[in-house]
Amino acid sequence: MNFKKICVFGLGYIGLPTASTFATHGLDVVGVDVNPRVIETLRNGGLHIHEPGLRTLVGAAIKSGKLTVATQPAEADAFIIAVPTPFKLKEKANSIPEADMSYVTSAAEAITPHLRKGNLVVLESTSPPRTTVELVAPILERSGLTAGEDFHLVYSPERVLPGQILRELIENARVIGGITPASAQAGRDLYAAFVKGDIILTDATTAEMVKLMENTTRDVNIAIANEFARLADRFGVDVWEAISLANRHPRIDILRPGPGVGGHCISVDPWFFVEAAPDLTDLIHTARRVNDSQPHFVADLTRRALGGLQGRKIAALGLAYKPDVDDLRESPAVKVAHLLQEAGASVVAFEPFKPDADLPGLQLAPTLENALAEADAAILLVGHTQLKELEPARVAALIPGRILIDTVNGWDAENWEQAGFRVFKLGVNP
Ligand SMILES: NC(=O)c1ccc[n+]([C@@H]2O[C@H](COP(=O)([O-])OP(=O)(O)OC[C@H]3O[C@@H](n4cnc5c(N)ncnc54)[C@H](O)[C@@H]3O)[C@@H](O)[C@H]2O)c1
Repeated sequence: MNFKKICVFGLGYIGLPTASTFATHGLDVVGVDVNPRVIETLRNGGLHIHEPGLRTLVGAAIKSGKLTVATQPAEADAFIIAVPTPFKLKEKANSIPEADMSYVTSAAEAITPHLRKGNLVVLESTSPPRTTVELVAPILERSGLTAGEDFHLVYSPERVLPGQILRELIENARVIGGITPASAQAGRDLYAAFVKGDIILTDATTAEMVKLMENTTRDVNIAIANEFARLADRFGVDVWEAISLANRHPRIDILRPGPGVGGHCISVDPWFFVEAAPDLTDLIHTARRVNDSQPHFVADLTRRALGGLQGRKIAALGLAYKPDVDDLRESPAVKVAHLLQEAGASVVAFEPFKPDADLPGLQLAPTLENALAEADAAILLVGHTQLKELEPARVAALIPGRILIDTVNGWDAENWEQAGFRVFKLGVNP
């Protein structure tokens, strides 16, 4: 198939790079977002998210006239859905979170009046198994057209790494699952516009499971690393040394422990399996619980390091869910900062990628200096390069307390100890 004009729903971390990349590869693209502020920002030459290289790419796409942005869709040859799929917040503690498919539903509903024979619709949003067939197809069929006969429908998971999205979008292998083989082939024809990695065709539900299995595997593997950190703490072992020695085994690759698991994907997607099949997902469910409780372990480590939390002033360094990104969604670092506060500490946080983030109940400092001033201790919650590269002498001049808690093994303890600090690491009993 030959695609000239496409419509991309959702101009966030996934949709905006995707829309811009299609545009710079010659397609006419309408980027649709329901948030008028996103549209206004883009039309004024701004950018509402941080991703290396994205400003230049979006600028080039808009300047060429190939990318336009709007709050309403238009007719097109293909429609791509890249809207959020978070979970609904549950009122009852310890209940299983449910996938919030309302954004996917409303994007599909917005496509329906514009759907024509021969169109292709792609769902990219990470979704519970059978969403394409059981949720999206019936909505689109309200147009009077039949999925797989009159129009093509595919699920194609996005697997890019934030921080490297622009490169990975093009170079990663792409899985395309069609509701029929012809739909999958149409999906291949579309993505061949820019994908240089392998394009592998399958059915829609397999493609949905592939994405969920990838993220669930990461979550389970991080959970075991976090449990190893707790065990090492109990048994007086340095978990970082133990992991590096275990990983000398040719068939072992233990991941890094940390303050927990966050972000829009790995901390969310495994719940889609648990919700869909609670009777089959003991391990996945337990891993989620382990990772969700890791901030409590970190708060307790901090309490032990400081001999108590009441009235202590703590600088929380880094709030993003992972290094060198500005994304704070589901971040365990934010959870740790709240837990420390709830235990009576006074926390001032510094997030270099979003110093002015609005986090209710949490005080953010505009600079590192402001965060460290008058602090009894600093806790490193995210391995941002600029935080890992801090000079001990610079920090020593800023912070009156000489206690550091390192939850990501980001600092060379000896180096800091020489500058007069006491360093407490996650997975090493204080
Ligand atoms: N961010 C990642 O690294 C990543 C990686 C792989 C997969 N995913 C998946 O991709 C999907 C999108 O994630 P994201 O990080 O880009 O989300 P995001 O929150 O950054 O962006 C989503 C955008 O969609 C807009 N939107 C919501 N409903 C809409 C609608 N009905 N029509 C048009 N626009 C709408 C929002 O206003 C927002 O700007 C999710 O399912 C996510 O799980 C994300």
